[in-house]
Parts: sequence; C-alpha cells; structure tokens
Amino acid sequence: MKVVVLGTGYVGLTTGACLAHLGHEVIGCDIDADKIGNLRMGKLPIYEQGLDHLCAAHRDRLRFSTDLARHAPSADVVVLAVGTPMSADGDIDLRAIETAARDVAPLLKSNATIAVKSTVVPGTARRLREIVAEARKGLDFSLASNPEFLREGSAVSDFLCADRIVLGADDPRAADVLRQVYAPLIAQGIPAVETSTVNAELIKYASNAMLAMRIGFINNIADLCEIIDGDVETVSQAVGLDKRIGPGFLKAGPGFGGSCFPKDIRALAALGRNRGARQPLVEALITENDNRQQRLVDRVLDCLGEQPRGRRVAVLGAAFKAGTDDLRESIALVVVEALVKAGAKISLFDPVAARAVSEVFPDVDPAPDPYDAAQGAELALVLTEWPEIAAIDLEHLKAVMAGSTLIDFRNLFDARHARELGLTYFSIGRPLPRSVGPANPDVLVAAE
Ligand code: UGA
Repeated sequence: MKVVVLGTGYVGLTTGACLAHLGHEVIGCDIDADKIGNLRMGKLPIYEQGLDHLCAAHRDRLRFSTDLARHAPSADVVVLAVGTPMSADGDIDLRAIETAARDVAPLLKSNATIAVKSTVVPGTARRLREIVAEARKGLDFSLASNPEFLREGSAVSDFLCADRIVLGADDPRAADVLRQVYAPLIAQGIPAVETSTVNAELIKYASNAMLAMRIGFINNIADLCEIIDGDVETVSQAVGLDKRIGPGFLKAGPGFGGSCFPKDIRALAALGRNRGARQPLVEALITENDNRQQRLVDRVLDCLGEQPRGRRVAVLGAAFKAGTDDLRESIALVVVEALVKAGAKISLFDPVAARAVSEVFPDVDPAPDPYDAAQGAELALVLTEWPEIAAIDLEHLKAVMAGSTLIDFRNLFDARHARELGLTYFSIGRPLPRSVGPANPDVLVAAE
C-alpha cells in the first residue's frame, strides 16, 4: 500500500520506518524543510534505538518530502502523526491535527483512508471526519483511529512486537484497510482489537493512565517504606509476582516524566471534567506526581545545607528515562533549575542528553563520563537509569569526589556496598539505618 505519514516526529518517524519494514511504500511528510533535508541524508532528528538501521535498510521504500500536495493524491492511507501538545489549562491542543486534516482533505483520492496515530481525546476522529467532509464535499473517504503504544527507547520493537494493535473504525472499509496495513503483524499472531474510533482513542488514554497509576502507587508505597523500615524493591517484586498484577511499571523512582504520561493524564482528567464524569483517581495522580518531584528537589537542597552557593554537584543522568535523549518533563530539568537558582555549580553526565541540558542552562558543564562529572563534587545525584550510570565503580566515584554524598533516585546501587565504601547513600523507599532514627517523609533516607 502507499502510505503518507504526516509528521516526522518520534511517532511519525517510527511508524513510517516500521510500515516500510512491513513492505509498504511510505512517504514521511513534514513542513520542516531542515528536518526533511536531514532525513534524506540519513540524519535522524531523535535518538531511538534501531531506528537509524531501519531507515537505512528500507531507503528504497521510505522516502521523505515537504511536498504533501505531490504525494497525498496517490496515497491509499494518510497517517496523521502530528503533535497534540498540552494547552495552558491542561487540556489537549488539537489545532495542529485539525489543520493537518483540513490541509490533506483537498488532496485525497477517492476511497482513501485517514488514520489518526497522534494521541487525541475520544471523539476527535469523528470531529476530524466532519472537518474533512466539510472541506471536501462529496469525497468518499474513511477515517480511522490507530493509537500507538510505543515507549521511547524501545519504539521499534514495541511496534513490530506489539502486545496488541488497536484498529478503531466506524465503517467496515476503514477496518479492512487497517487490517491490510498491519496484515504481516496480525499474521504473526499479534492480537488486533477491532473497535470503534471512540473506543480506540479511549484505550490509549486508559492504558497510559493505568501505567502511570501503577508508578504513582508504588512511589507512595516507597514513601511508606522509608518510614516503616521497609524496602520497596522487595515489596514491588513480590507484589508483581501475583499473576493478576504482573511486574511491569512497578519501579519506584522520582515520578514519571516524558512527553506522554503527564500530558495524557491531564487530558483525560480534563475530558472527565468537561463531560461530567470526573476522574478523581487520575486527578489525584497528577497532583501527587507534581508534588513528588518538588519533594525530591527539596531533599536535594536539604542535603546541600544552608549555603548551597558555589558547592559542586554532579548530576548523573538527564533524560526522563534511559534509552532516549528526550528531556521533556524530566525531573532533571526541575532539579537542575533549583540547583542553578541556589547557586550550586553543576557538572552533568548523560550519554546523549548532556549538551541539550547545557543549552537550556548555560552554566551547567557537560561531562564526558560520570567520574569527570563527579570530580571535586560534594554531592552526586543519580536521575536516570542509564547502564553507563548503573555500571559506575562507586569506589572510583568516591575517590574523585570531594564529598561523600550520593543521592540515587533510581535505586541503581547496592546500599550496603555503598555504605561500606564510606558513601552517605540516599535512595528511594529503602530501609533506614539504625543510626538515623525515626524518619519523616521530608527527611532523606540513608539506606543500609
Ligand atoms: C509511554 C507508554 O509506556 C507507551 O506505551 C506509550 O505509547 C507512550 O507513553 C506514548 O503515549 O506515546 P514513554 O513515555 O516513552 O511511553 O515512557 P515509559 O517507559 O512509559 O516511562 C514513562 C515514565 O515513567 C518515565 O519517567 C519512567 O522513568 C517512569 N517509570 C516507568 C517509572 O518511574 N517506573 C516504572 O516502573 C516505569
């Protein structure tokens, strides 16, 4: 099939490359001429494992263009993968996708299908159908909803080895076209859920909210562990062994970030409020995740003492999670901003995102490795679970530091080992050393 993917961001690009891999002829279209120029030269705008290889391997079937008018008229399917950012009031901003639908309408051939890949609030596909029908009276077309479940860092395998594919269609032809698009994956046994566009849209929001809820829940349990001498790692592992619960998304940490969970749960809460079916659990989750980040920032500042100005801090990790260079809604931005404001001197290591942080905060020094970042630091702070950070030799780290405080918001290290080396090691939801005495939630917990 000939597929035009409108938008070459992280979702559009991954989708385009994977559809080319499935054998379709794909044109990735974008209004950003620089981006398209780079993509034509094989330069990707994002770091995503395996995507560069996939793009290179399918160069014959995956092309890029700024000229939508040239390619859309021959497309069997136009995939809308443009951004749907959060507006100031937490609701979703659908202007870009509505404009995309309006732009593509006059170009479509008869029988074409528009598939909405961008994350949109339930009801959007139906609204887009009205927009296209109005812009192109009499056109015979279909509109489908086909949400993505791609994690940054493993997007290619999430696409090609998906747990399920959701095919949202309100007419049989749209369902049939989506079935053809995904035929090679369906043939491999990946379950395809065929449903209405509204259900498809809601499945995406409900999935992200459920995953975020698990993280919020285990982080609350971690807070409790810090007070009652529990260990969240053991609790989480044992809870996850219950087959009804499962082990995924039960890792305690600094709270969830990224471009999806924070935005999508806000949009779901706004939808519930606007439509008269409030989502109180989701609303509480939003507040709790925001508060958690602020509480953790306060803990770091507490550790720096009354005079943070001029004190050296090594920040280890900046991306919102390992495997991506994405800084959106990363706790690193919140922590670094607070440290910069307090006058601390920051050296930062992140295997792919360090330069991007120093573009936002020019006073932050990017470091080539964790030991370089920790040179002369009084405090080292782990924010992202990169393998390069998990593999740090703590003895070496301590030797290059001027101080001995290690704050680990990802629980990467063995607490006992860190303590034996003489580090004052703080982590998330792990036992209190006997010497610290009763804790309260605002006091950092030095693990045994
Ligand atoms: C998320 C979903 O996992 C994807 O299925 C979805 O398609 C995507 O959003 C989207 O809507 O496009 P992503 O944002 O890439 O993917 O990242 P996740 O791996 O889900 O992690 C999100 C945040 O939760 C990160 O800050 C991560 O550190 C945190 N997290 C994750 C935890 O704190 N604990 C966990 O156990 C898992």
